[in-house]
Amino acid sequence: MAREGRGSNIAVIKYWGKRDKKKILPINSSLSVTLSPFDMGTCTSAAYNPSWKGVKLWLNGKEEDANTERIQNCLREIQARSGESDMKEGIRIVSTNNFPTAAGLASSASGYACLVAALGGLFKVEGDLSVIARQGSGSACRSMYGGFVKWEMGKEEDGSDSIAVQVAPETHWPSLHALILVVSDEKKKVSSTGGMEESVRTSKLLAHRAQAVVPDRMVRMEQAIKDKDFAAFGKLTMEDSNQFHATCLDTWPPIFYLNDTSRAIIQFVHAFNEEMGQICAAYTFDAGPNAVLFVEEANLVKLAHRVSAAFPPSKDKTLEDHLADDELRNKVQEVGGWEADQDMGGRVKYIIHTKVGCGPSALTEDESLIDLSSGLPK
Ligand code: ADP
Ligand code: DP6
Repeated sequence: MAREGRGSNIAVIKYWGKRDKKKILPINSSLSVTLSPFDMGTCTSAAYNPSWKGVKLWLNGKEEDANTERIQNCLREIQARSGESDMKEGIRIVSTNNFPTAAGLASSASGYACLVAALGGLFKVEGDLSVIARQGSGSACRSMYGGFVKWEMGKEEDGSDSIAVQVAPETHWPSLHALILVVSDEKKKVSSTGGMEESVRTSKLLAHRAQAVVPDRMVRMEQAIKDKDFAAFGKLTMEDSNQFHATCLDTWPPIFYLNDTSRAIIQFVHAFNEEMGQICAAYTFDAGPNAVLFVEEANLVKLAHRVSAAFPPSKDKTLEDHLADDELRNKVQEVGGWEADQDMGGRVKYIIHTKVGCGPSALTEDESLIDLSSGLPK
């Protein structure tokens, strides 16, 4: 039996495009911030008993198909590294996400990272496991570590050098916070996998980005993180998000992940920074309309206060529903005195407050999700 916890991640230099679809090898390196597993994470337990039939997986209490290509790829790689002869039998995996699944909040990243970590623990696989998590979902390889993590694209055809490497641990920049503005928690219409395939096929801007823009940005982003230089970190983060969405528009036919609310958030952040006289907040958007805003602790309450006014809850909801974090909400309410923009009411559904997350979080026996006698979820 093995138990693992992992946080999701949000890329500040985006991965968009594969050079090898089967092995999930990217056309450029990328860099992300792992989010706290306590706010945005997955818990997975895995158990093995040769007398159990087949491989079974339960996600958020519901049995799911464990025979997908991505899960099978992960199992095959674990099998190869562990020396086990057959991984088609006897495996039970039970997993829960503490945030919405398949809603554009990167549950696949923490999900596959956790799955691989749990299987790796169960079969005592040593060494780097990010190369295996990558084959579940590309961005998942970065959730194998906490803090700030880069995914080096690598050069080898077999993908052995396409791995995640920690740039700095979560303790490096403890004052960095994130606010996640959930604009929609519905399933995205164009998946990342499908969208990036179309972009690679049709967008010349994407090819230019991968070759001529990202390599320099990776160097500068790593430096900004090492220096804890928020202005440099924030500017690069926003530029890279914007360029990723520009490549989506340059895809034929074009892909739109941002909506009017996302664009209003972008304008809001620029106006906030203008007023502050420097870059104090930064936005980034993945393959969906939800925004992740980065901010340092010194400006957190001010930003949360402004966000709550500019993107207030809908009329039937309260601020308690909107901003669940009691401590932050109390501080926002202490500032008080805002005029909510009612026209924008409900355009942001709710706000998650989180921080940079740790790597693997050790779970206790009590936190195991599998009943070992039956192999079923507890
Ligand atoms: P998201 O934006 O949440 O990553 P995707 O549609 O890209 O949405 O990925 C969601 C899929 O990732 C799920 O349908 C499931 O196949 C997989 N997934 C999510 N969480 C887990 C988990 N904890 N364990 C295993 N697979 C997971
Ligand atoms: C926009 O990792 O979900 O979030 O490798 O096909 O599973 P697959 O794609 P996925 O793509 C993530 C794209 C992104 C940017 C990023 O996380 O770097």
